[in-house]
Amino acid sequence: MGKVMTELSMSLDGYIAGPHDGPDNPLGDGGTALFRWYQSGDTPFIVPSGTMTFRVSAASAALLEEMYPRIGALVTGRRTFDITNGWEGRHPSDAPIVVATHEVPEAWVQEYVTGRGAPFTFVTEGVARAVEVARRIAGDRDVAVSAASLVQQCLRLGLLDEILIDLAPVLLGGGVRLFDGLGDAAIGLERLRVVEGRDVTHLLFRVLKA
Ligand SMILES: NC(=O)c1ccc[n+]([C@@H]2O[C@H](COP(=O)([O-])OP(=O)(O)OC[C@H]3O[C@@H](n4cnc5c(N)ncnc54)[C@H](OP(=O)(O)O)[C@@H]3O)[C@@H](O)[C@H]2O)c1
Repeated sequence: MGKVMTELSMSLDGYIAGPHDGPDNPLGDGGTALFRWYQSGDTPFIVPSGTMTFRVSAASAALLEEMYPRIGALVTGRRTFDITNGWEGRHPSDAPIVVATHEVPEAWVQEYVTGRGAPFTFVTEGVARAVEVARRIAGDRDVAVSAASLVQQCLRLGLLDEILIDLAPVLLGGGVRLFDGLGDAAIGLERLRVVEGRDVTHLLFRVLKA
């Protein structure tokens, strides 16, 4: 069975989006700085969907080459899904997406049923169930948990095995904080790797289970 991991671009002060995020401002005020590293190098990396090419440092490209093929399914939250409009039907990773939500968007489901939609699965029974569904889809490959609220819930439930932070050199001062609401008990981490990219430092941790 694969791992449950997360990979997110985060500011030095801990935000994965700046203030006032929404469909017209997907990463919030100042948040585009989080993704600057995707276009600040000279090594091309074509995403598995083929829909875009990043230009990153050689070190970042090597990490992406290693990581992307491992992803067998993604779990995301309804805000990220809505803000990106379901990545217009195709996520760059090309992996099937499981969306945690309280209400299934019937229009998207109908699109899928008629064969025109993308492989999204909507789960209304909570995060543990969403991860379970994603694990089944991913098989031996990894499940990538995206978006802050889901990472927080997975950490609280002991479901997360690894955390890959793409640390961006910016202080956003507000917005969507990644490590919020985790309770009082410390969560131990083992640092596995540090990769220096351009406009980014990749930090890989294993989550130590109590
Ligand atoms: N920097 C990066 O690498 C990166 C990557 C991805 C996303 N982002 C950003 O992250 C932000 C979104 O993250 P977020 O944490 O605010 O929101 P989110 O996790 O994408 O979505 C939260 C929503 O998901 C649903 N949900 C969450 N847990 C649930 C549960 N247990 N049961 C049922 N439904 C559940 C709820 O929606 P409903 O109640 O409406 O159904 C909830 O309001 C956006 O700004 C996005 O652009 C950044």
